[in-house]
Amino acid sequence: MRGVVFDGKQAQVVDDLEIRDPGAGEVLVAISAAGLCHSDLSVIDGTIPFPPPVVLGHEGAGVVEAVGPGVTHVEAGDHVSLSTLASCGACADCDRGRPTMCRKAIGMPGQPFSRGGTPLFQFASNSAFAERTIVKAVQAVRIPEDIPATSAALIGCGVLTGVGAVLNRARVDHGESVVVIGAGGIGLNVLQGARIAGAATIVAVDANPAKEAVARQFGATHFIDASAAGDTSAAVREILPTGADHAFECVGHVRLIRQAIDLLDRHGQAVLLGVPGFKEEASFQVSSLYLDKTIMGCRYGSSRPQRDIALYAELYRQGKLLLDELVTEVYPVEDFAKAVDDARHGRVARGVLTF
Ligand SMILES: NC(=O)c1ccc[n+]([C@@H]2O[C@H](COP(=O)([O-])OP(=O)(O)OC[C@H]3O[C@@H](n4cnc5c(N)ncnc54)[C@H](O)[C@@H]3O)[C@@H](O)[C@H]2O)c1
Ligand SMILES: [Zn+2]
Ligand SMILES: [Zn+2]
Repeated sequence: MRGVVFDGKQAQVVDDLEIRDPGAGEVLVAISAAGLCHSDLSVIDGTIPFPPPVVLGHEGAGVVEAVGPGVTHVEAGDHVSLSTLASCGACADCDRGRPTMCRKAIGMPGQPFSRGGTPLFQFASNSAFAERTIVKAVQAVRIPEDIPATSAALIGCGVLTGVGAVLNRARVDHGESVVVIGAGGIGLNVLQGARIAGAATIVAVDANPAKEAVARQFGATHFIDASAAGDTSAAVREILPTGADHAFECVGHVRLIRQAIDLLDRHGQAVLLGVPGFKEEASFQVSSLYLDKTIMGCRYGSSRPQRDIALYAELYRQGKLLLDELVTEVYPVEDFAKAVDDARHGRVARGVLTF
């Protein structure tokens, strides 16, 4: 079968991937569509270290092809959106509603794929850039069949991460002010999460002026072009003179993390979603934090996928959550290189591969 393999040097589309049968508690899914998230690019350029060879992709939707023993909540033919959390469901963190913190689901990649007898790792417990993948039962969430697969795919990372960061982690309240640095696939979902939460002022900052229209479509009340000459922070302060209640960094640059912290109002919180290089360090002025400010990390929108994916599917059907509008370009998987080029050059909100 076809899929996108990163061998440690380059990513390429291959057609000789094999996958084992689903075991107990596992689901075999025929992938229909999968979004290209910046985290896939970060594996290729080394920003996110991951052992090769690996099948990329972690934002997908498809149709259940088979289930292993003990799986009862989905069956062959069901449409599903996939999460990346192979959480165990039985540890203290899972039990207290924090599957993103499950220690059994972090740093232990499986190898359900092979190629010419060589096993390949699964990225983010998911590997949606393959015609078929195997996930744990907990990762397959049933969705209504009338949601197009190209849209449903994006729930699995961009929406869970961005909207979840607003609703689950930051808990943005009615009337609050929000700054979102980076209006890519993640930032756009932070913008629409802030709109859904009822934020009053939502400022999007992006170095690509072409992102303004889509940022406003997703909920930005203001847009600042960070590539224009001038001081971006001063431009935000013209709109929010005392600073922001919440500032989300959605790029992955330590300079922008500092900017997010410096833009906070008293009692404000900076939420770090972007992933800089593994060993990079950021700094901040310590005295500024005494005004009850908080810096918080956020993994995968602090999501509970079985609940949240179903919720986002419902909000989409009610017209409150935009998905179709995120899909700028759809490519057959063979055009993976073009999808990467378009993403790197900021030509798409999200590019989606189909199989
Ligand atoms: N925390 C998590 O669980 C999680 C999940 C998914 C992705 N991520 C990370 O989130 C980050 C964003 O991912 P994405 O898929 O949205 O990427 P993307 O490439 O779609 O978007 C990045 C955006 O940042 C903008 N940008 C670049 N430099 C900028 C600058 N100096 N100032 C302002 N804007 C700038 C780009 O124009 C683009 O619009 C990545 O680091 C990714 O690894 C984190
Ligand atoms: Zn992602
Ligand atoms: Zn667990």
